[in-house]
Amino acid sequence: MKTYKIAVIPGDGIGAEVVNEGIKVLKTLEDLLKFKAELINYPFGADHYLKTGEIFNQKDFEFIKNNSDAILLGAIGDPRIEPGLLEFGIVGKLRFELDLYANVRPIKVYSEHLLPLKNKKPEDLDILVIRENTEDCYRGKTIVENEGKESERHVQEMFYTKNGTERVIRYAFQMAMKRKKKLTLVDKRNAIKAHEIYRKTFVKLSREFPQVEIDYAYVDAFCMWLIKKPEYFDTVVTTNLFGDIVTDLGAALQGGMGIAAGANIHPGKVSMFEPIHGSAPKYKNLKKASPLACILATAWMLDHVGETKALPLVENAIKDLFKEKKIDAATTESAIRTDVQGDLVCKKIESILHN
Ligand code: IPM
Ligand code: MN
Repeated sequence: MKTYKIAVIPGDGIGAEVVNEGIKVLKTLEDLLKFKAELINYPFGADHYLKTGEIFNQKDFEFIKNNSDAILLGAIGDPRIEPGLLEFGIVGKLRFELDLYANVRPIKVYSEHLLPLKNKKPEDLDILVIRENTEDCYRGKTIVENEGKESERHVQEMFYTKNGTERVIRYAFQMAMKRKKKLTLVDKRNAIKAHEIYRKTFVKLSREFPQVEIDYAYVDAFCMWLIKKPEYFDTVVTTNLFGDIVTDLGAALQGGMGIAAGANIHPGKVSMFEPIHGSAPKYKNLKKASPLACILATAWMLDHVGETKALPLVENAIKDLFKEKKIDAATTESAIRTDVQGDLVCKKIESILHN
C-alpha cells in the first residue's frame, strides 16, 4: 500500500476546525482508495507562540523538509500578535525556505449560484493563476528614514531575479500546455520599471512553447477584464504581490474565500497546500467557517503526491452537494456547521464510489 507522510499545521483561528474536516475527508479517501497517510501534527501558531515564545521550531522545520511528502496548512494570524510576525515566521518560512516558488491558485466555479457576475456562466470563469511566491516586496528590504521627523520616509524594495522570474514563468507555460494553451502575463510595467524583467523573460520563454498563445495585461486592466470578460483568460502568471491581490478578487468571483484553495509548489520537492482564506479569529470554534477550501486543498495535496482519483472525487462531491443545496460556501457565516459540511462531503464521496 502506498504510504504518504503529511505534516499538518492547523494554525490559528478557524484553522483547526477547517483542517479537521480536511483530515476527515482524507481518512475517508484513505479507506476507499486504499492508501495510507501518516499525519504529523504541529502546534505552531499564536497559542503556541504565546505559551513558549517559539514561532517555528527549527528541528521540526528540518524534519518536515526532509521527511514529508507534503504539508497541509490551516490558517495563520492572530490579533494578539503584531501583524506579520507569525505570517512570515510560519507561512513565509515555509514558502521561502522550502523555496516553493509557484503559488498556484485556481479560480473556478463549482455551482452556478456562487458566481456573482451578471450574464456569465460557471464555464466562463476557469482560470489558473500562477503567483510567484519567493520574491517581490515580500522578501525585499524595508528602510525607515528619519522616523518622527517631517522628512520621514518608508521604503519597501520589490525585487525580481533572473532565476526567480524564469522558473515561475516556465512553470506557468507548462501549466498552460495542460490547459487551453493560453498564457497571460499580468504585471505593471508601465509604472514599475523593474517589471521589465517579467516582460523580457516571458517573451524569451514563449519561444520554447510555440503552441501557447501569449498575451499581456497590466494588473489594473486585468482586474477590470476579470469581471467583464473572465472567459478571455485561461492561465495567468504574475508577481507575488499582484498574485496575492488578484486571487482574493478571483476568490470572490468563485463564491468567496470559503471555497478557494491554493498550492505552494516546488516541483520535485515537498510542497504545501492551504485554503487561501485567513484565520478569521473572531469565528474560532463557532463552527460557522466553510471547510470547503481546506477540503479542496487536502484533495489537491493527495493528487499531488499521487492519489489522482482524490481531487476529481472531492470536486464532484462538492458540486453534487451544491446542486442538492446541502452545503453553502459562506466563508464565516455558514448556516451549515463546519463539521456537518465535512460529514456530508465524506458521505457523498462514498456514495459516488459505490454507484
Ligand atoms: C495569502 C496571504 C498571505 C500573503 C499573508 C498572510 C502574508 O494573504 O496567502 O494570500 O500575502 O501571501
Ligand atoms: Mn492573500
